[in-house]
Amino acid sequence: MRIGIIGAGSVGGTLGRRWAALGHQVTFGIRHASEGASAVKGDGPLPAGSSVALPLEAVTNAEVVVLATPWAAVPAVLEGIAPALDGKPLLDATNPLVAGFAIDPALTGDDERGRRTISAAERIQSLVPRARVVKVFNTTGFDNMRDPIYPAGPLTMFYAGDDPAAKAVARALAADLGFDPVDAGPLSRARELEHLALLWISLAFGGMGRDIGFRLERR
Ligand SMILES: NC(=O)c1ccc[n+]([C@@H]2O[C@H](COP(=O)([O-])OP(=O)(O)OC[C@H]3O[C@@H](n4cnc5c(N)ncnc54)[C@H](OP(=O)(O)O)[C@@H]3O)[C@@H](O)[C@H]2O)c1
Repeated sequence: MRIGIIGAGSVGGTLGRRWAALGHQVTFGIRHASEGASAVKGDGPLPAGSSVALPLEAVTNAEVVVLATPWAAVPAVLEGIAPALDGKPLLDATNPLVAGFAIDPALTGDDERGRRTISAAERIQSLVPRARVVKVFNTTGFDNMRDPIYPAGPLTMFYAGDDPAAKAVARALAADLGFDPVDAGPLSRARELEHLALLWISLAFGGMGRDIGFRLERR
């Protein structure tokens, strides 16, 4: 697939390098064209099949877009690429964190069932209503995106969204990396996935280290 990645840091760099190595055509959207390939995190030169471009160009040429910037940058990033997102799957890997690894309080509000936290993914969907947002690649560390295989088997990659075709793209790209993809339901479930990410972070940085991940078992 032609994949545009906005945010070429730990997550975007890792995902894009792996997908390119697997044969996908990856364009990393970077802020400063003069930085070239050095703007993409990761070891070694960019794999064949990948390149860098300004964000709007990376999205315009893509069949699917991955959003992997810090949460604070999301509104400005989306404003810059919105016209090219119409109808495209937008895979949201962000976690809406503020200082101290807390969920952005701006996402907390009231609804008929009492206080709830609106997910970053739903906020993103409201900012780009014509994109087909799927929450995915947010519940584990970037190291696990490089290698999701553990002794007991592959880690689970949960995804949530409202558009079946966009979810199928997310599922296929997660499976390509070696994850066990699991449909977590509609986009309203993204809130749970963002809180699951917070659990991963609190365990990893609370002493267990980054070589941990979630696996859903079935019987
Ligand atoms: N780190 C993890 O293990 C992990 C796991 C799951 C999810 N996440 C989430 O994924 C997102 C990215 O995390 P990360 O660890 O990859 O962050 P990171 O390493 O700091 O990378 C962030 C990337 O976003 C780029 N960026 C920032 N503002 C931008 C803009 N306005 N336009 C285009 N690019 C912009 C940065 O570019 P510059 O180099 O130009 O600043 C950088 O390449 C966050 O929302 C995080 O919560 C992280």
